[in-house]
Amino acid sequence: MGVNTNNLAATRLPLFPLNTQIKDGRLLIGGFSVEELAQEFGTPLYLYDQSTLDDALAQYRAALQAEYPAQSGLTYAGKAFLSLAMAQWAARRGLMIDCTGAGEITIAVAAGAMPEQLLVHGVSKSWEDLQAAVAHAGTLVVDHLGELERLIELNKNSSRLNFPDLWLRLRPGMAVETHSYTQTGQDDSKFGLSALEFLQALEKAQKAGLRVTGLHFHQGSHFHDPTPIAPALDLALDLIVETRQSLGWMPQTLCPGGGWGTPYHEDDLPHQTIGEYVRFVAQHLMQGCRERNLPLPRLHLEPGRSMVARAGVAVYRVEAVKRTATRRWLLLDGGMADNPRPALYRARYTALPVSQPERPATDAAWLAGPYCESGDVLIEALPLPEIYPGELLAVPVSGAYQLSMASNYNGARRPAVIWLKGGKVTLIRQRESLEDLYRRDLPLPS
Ligand SMILES: Cc1ncc(COP(=O)(O)O)c(C=O)c1O
Repeated sequence: MGVNTNNLAATRLPLFPLNTQIKDGRLLIGGFSVEELAQEFGTPLYLYDQSTLDDALAQYRAALQAEYPAQSGLTYAGKAFLSLAMAQWAARRGLMIDCTGAGEITIAVAAGAMPEQLLVHGVSKSWEDLQAAVAHAGTLVVDHLGELERLIELNKNSSRLNFPDLWLRLRPGMAVETHSYTQTGQDDSKFGLSALEFLQALEKAQKAGLRVTGLHFHQGSHFHDPTPIAPALDLALDLIVETRQSLGWMPQTLCPGGGWGTPYHEDDLPHQTIGEYVRFVAQHLMQGCRERNLPLPRLHLEPGRSMVARAGVAVYRVEAVKRTATRRWLLLDGGMADNPRPALYRARYTALPVSQPERPATDAAWLAGPYCESGDVLIEALPLPEIYPGELLAVPVSGAYQLSMASNYNGARRPAVIWLKGGKVTLIRQRESLEDLYRRDLPLPS
């Protein structure tokens, strides 16, 4: 690998939380020395910076207000990262929280989210998931006809006066451009209803006296080009023209899901902004409604990654440095157990040394975890300076789909998580203990 003497910090700092800086050769986030945080809370360590979350939310709200003249709303997609603190953040800011099933509903309710803030998703919701949704949620997104049958049955037996509003999830038959594992809108996707099934579901729900208030679709996650949303919106609006004629139904809310991408690596910069994405959706929706003489529905977006990814940073300690035939390996104390994304999707990340982040690079390094899989490589061929065992590396854009997919592989204890806000640091999730690893296990009889 060639020598890269670029100033690494200049290109990588824009990926870190907003108030990240280098002072006296040390990486500071929210005014805190990352090295001191690692000493206090141990590594691997995940930190979330609230001001970066607040900023992403403000970008969404400002863009919706500027670009869309009718009502609009936002749901935080909890699947990106949900904890008590994260759900409190969302609930206190008046967001809806997208919960997949009974588990995430339980967390959001414990965090104080009100029923009208709970939006329940899921491709194969169990009876337990549906019962939890009916007990707690204001809105449920119906994925398929069998689920609707179950809901009709639950409605018959429900003592709750306010049975959740239903949104029907359309499978538009076109995905966005992203890794195939995170495409969801294509014809053969496991998610959602075809246009024909949508009409059948709507009629069935209406006959059963259920309130259907929304049309939803989601074409995939981590896309950078919003163009494929346009034909999906057209399809949805054509369907609405048909439902208005045949069933007298129009949605109060139209939700084209979430999925807006985030830059993870310096090569991903510059990246279109949240505002540009929202403008594209809003303009196309307004034009589509105008052309079909439809009133503007409430526009609802459902971001996860673009809300939370940049706010999160993972901090690892280098346990060993190894040289093989062509590679310099930095062997870390975390990897695929806390961040399975590179192994799952070949996701690309970058990193900075926590002390001396401005040192020029020598040659490329492969950053790997301690787990017994050759696929446990967090970052490939990353220009970095000389790094020694015991030093720390910070990986930006670690806030989404890392901890929410973390495992105990090889007896890994899932990391501690801290929250930085206004010069205060709060531990929001304890590191798992050794005993936690077998707390649910029971011995064999003797
Ligand atoms: C239905 C639905 N909505 C929203 C999201 C959030 O996607 P992202 O975190 O990429 O914004 C997802 C994630 O796949 C999803 O499945």
